[in-house]
Amino acid sequence: MEVVICQDEEQVGAVAADRVIAQLHGRQTPVLGLATGSSPLNLYAELKRRAAAGDVDFAHALGFALDEYVGLDPKHPLSYRETILRTVVEPLGMNPDRVMVPNGFVADLAAAAEEYEEAMREAGGIDVQILGIGSNGHIGFNEPTSSFASRTRVKTLTQQTRDDNARFFAEDETVPTHCVTQGLGTIMDAHNLVMVASGPAKAEIVAAMIEGPVSAMCPASILQFHRRAFVIIDEAAAANLQYADYFRHVAANQPA
Ligand code: F6R
Repeated sequence: MEVVICQDEEQVGAVAADRVIAQLHGRQTPVLGLATGSSPLNLYAELKRRAAAGDVDFAHALGFALDEYVGLDPKHPLSYRETILRTVVEPLGMNPDRVMVPNGFVADLAAAAEEYEEAMREAGGIDVQILGIGSNGHIGFNEPTSSFASRTRVKTLTQQTRDDNARFFAEDETVPTHCVTQGLGTIMDAHNLVMVASGPAKAEIVAAMIEGPVSAMCPASILQFHRRAFVIIDEAAAANLQYADYFRHVAANQPA
């Protein structure tokens, strides 16, 4: 795992954009794994700037979202399909027909999840999976105790995740109780992982992910087993790391 500590969340976005673009270099049809949530917004804003500057072109890219709520109409403004279209597809100039989001609004959720896995396989896998981390250590919506071998499936959200996400919903709306999410095994199949995290609320769980034991109680700790996992965090999110000075030293002393 490579850990980069940045001054602030703007720098997190810029460094993460460098990583994403470097990993997509030379790919005619780049395949992006897309996260929603607040964490990657600076990264997407930076990718938009780089695309406008001609550094990268997403017109032919394929996109696969990590997760979706169950029972929310895909046209609902808070569905992850709509959120991805608004915050990623449109700003980056991706083709909406080439961006897939798990389907949480069909009768046969299991069959739809299997089709989603198949579509990712047919695309040749994810070149770069963008990730955030939940305050309980989830990635995608793989809540604590999720199987490390899991594939795309229905999960029940924890109360903590529903509370965390309540900020997006109006007072009279209830946060969905279930989701469809790529599994931890699915995420681990991506060729590159780029995780971004910022702010003091993430400090404890970021330390557990990077320095704690690999445990299903912190699903993101599975990143310790990935060969190409880049974790880009700001100073506030790095506050609980025992090895913060080491990570700074590594970043400042790259071999020529
Ligand atoms: C979203 C997702 C989640 C979020 C996580 C952090 O597609 O997969 O794992 O990345 O809940 O959310 P934020 O970034 O809003 O703190």
